[in-house]
This record gives sequence, structure tokens and C-alpha cells, in this order.
Amino acid sequence: MAHTETGPAPKADPAPAPDWLRTNRANWDARVPVHAASELYDLAGFRAGRSTLRALDLDEVGDVTGRRLLHLQCHMGQDTLSWARRGAHVTGLDFSAPAIRTARALAEDTGLADRARFVVSDVYAAPQALDGQRFDIVVTGVGALVWLPDLPRWAQIVVSLLADGGFLHLAEFHPFTDVLDEDGSTVAYDYFGDAQGARYDSPYTYTDGPPLAEPVHVEWQHSLGEVITSLAAAGLRIEFLHEYPTTLFRRFPVLEGSADGTGGGAFPPGAPQIPLMYSLRARRTP
Ligand SMILES: C[S@@+](CC[C@H](N)C(=O)[O-])C[C@H]1O[C@@H](n2cnc3c(N)ncnc32)[C@H](O)[C@@H]1O
Repeated sequence: MAHTETGPAPKADPAPAPDWLRTNRANWDARVPVHAASELYDLAGFRAGRSTLRALDLDEVGDVTGRRLLHLQCHMGQDTLSWARRGAHVTGLDFSAPAIRTARALAEDTGLADRARFVVSDVYAAPQALDGQRFDIVVTGVGALVWLPDLPRWAQIVVSLLADGGFLHLAEFHPFTDVLDEDGSTVAYDYFGDAQGARYDSPYTYTDGPPLAEPVHVEWQHSLGEVITSLAAAGLRIEFLHEYPTTLFRRFPVLEGSADGTGGGAFPPGAPQIPLMYSLRARRTP
């Protein structure tokens, strides 16, 4: 509405959420009750003290005692609260209100509410949702980046959330795995995604449980080069990039359980090994 002669125009309504955001939020809202009841997420075990952090997170993030840690796309907050159990003051952010409600309830149930804050927000609106607060450590990944259409903008958001000297730790499924067919034996798909993303209609989520009420979602494929270049262009200094021949779940039937504690699997010994996950640390230098 235009500015009028009699005074300032009424505040405009916020711009409507883009279609991908509404579609994906509805899909994730529908996943939450299914995940909360699933064996994979094992909320009862978490309440009883189980940590969901992986060996690589613990090794690469290091001591978090007293640090301000932000977990982007925190889902139901188990990783976030696992960091709180290790002494961090944590904030978890996710755009799904049911996920954040579950995370807050878990924080209460586990006695961690005094050092855990959970915020409902789109990643791209995080600086406003967090009132400009800055963090020593930002963690994210494990199925996070495929939901984001614009990595250069994501990287700029991450920089704006980091205190000087603070770092991002990202642990993700390796985008190279997306080129393989469902058996994991043949290159079947493009490595390079397109800017429109890909729309899927998948009745089931990745846990056990009933079909989803909102099955449609949009995902974006981001190459490793795109991730690194986005972070470097935003001004972060990449301290390491590790690639792992192991992953957290049995993505392909050919994978065998890995003995190194990373969980899900690896190609059998003697078979050609490809990267299944990667992790990196990127620091905001003063
Ligand atoms: C596969 S889960 C990540 C799991 C997470 N690593 C964990 O610790 O459980 C992806 C999460 O991203 C969230 N998400 C997807 N797009 C988002 C966006 N634009 N802004 C904020 N959260 C988003 C979903 O609600 C979901 O909780």
C-alpha cells in the first residue's frame, strides 16, 4: 500500500512464503509425529541418556563446555541437546513448529531446559529470529543442505551468525552418492542439480511408520564444489574437508555395517570405495 498524505501507510503484511517453503514445511510437520514414534529416533532412549552425536562430530567439534552453540535445522533437537549434555549453551532452530515443540518437551524431560533454547524459523530468516545473536559454534548437516535452494545465501547467513573466531561444523551425506542408482552399483543420475530443485511425492519418510499426510517435497542437489565455494565466498576460512567411505545408514543394499562406529555402512572391503559422507570446519576470522 502506498504512503498516504495523512500518515504512514499501514505496515504491509510479510511477503507470503514461497511455494517450496510452504510445501517443505508441511512435509516436515507431517514427518514429526512419525519420527517421534519411530525406532530410528528412539526418543525414550534419548530421555534415558543416549547421545545422538557421532564420533566424527565429537572429534572435530571438540570441547564445547561453556560455548554458545547453534544447531541449524535441528529437527526434534536430539543432537542439539546432546551438545547441551556435553556442557554447551545451545540454541536449536528449525522451521517446523511441531519439531520445535518436541525439542522443547525433550529439553524439559531431560532437565536441560536451562541451557537449551529452541526457535521456529526458516534458516534464511535466522538472524532476525535470533535477534542478531552470535555464536561460537554453528553445527548443521546430516540431511540439512538438500532442503536449501540457495547455498551462497545460506553461507552468508552462517557468517552473520558466527562470532569472530567462531566456526561452522558441517557433516553431510556426500553429494556424489546421489549419482548412483538404487543398488549403489551404477552411475545413473547427474551430479549437478538444477536451480529449480526436484519435486518428489514420497508417501513414506526414512523411518518406520505410517504414510505421510503431506508427501510432496522439494530438494536441491548441491555439489561439493558449490558448498565450499559458497562458504569461501562468504569469507569463511576452510580449515579441513574430510571425506569418509562410511555413512550413517544403509543407503544401498550392497553396503555392509561399518566397524568404526559411524553406524550405517560402507562398501565391502576390496570393492572400490567412494566417499559416502563428508565433514568440514570453516572459521570466521576476525
Ligand atoms: C533430515 S532433518 C535434519 C536432521 C538433523 N540433522 C538432526 O539432528 O536430527 C532436516 C531438518 O531440516 C528442517 N528444515 C528443512 N528446510 C528448512 C528451512 N528452510 N529452514 C529451517 N529448517 C528447515 C526440517 O524441518 C528438518 O527438521
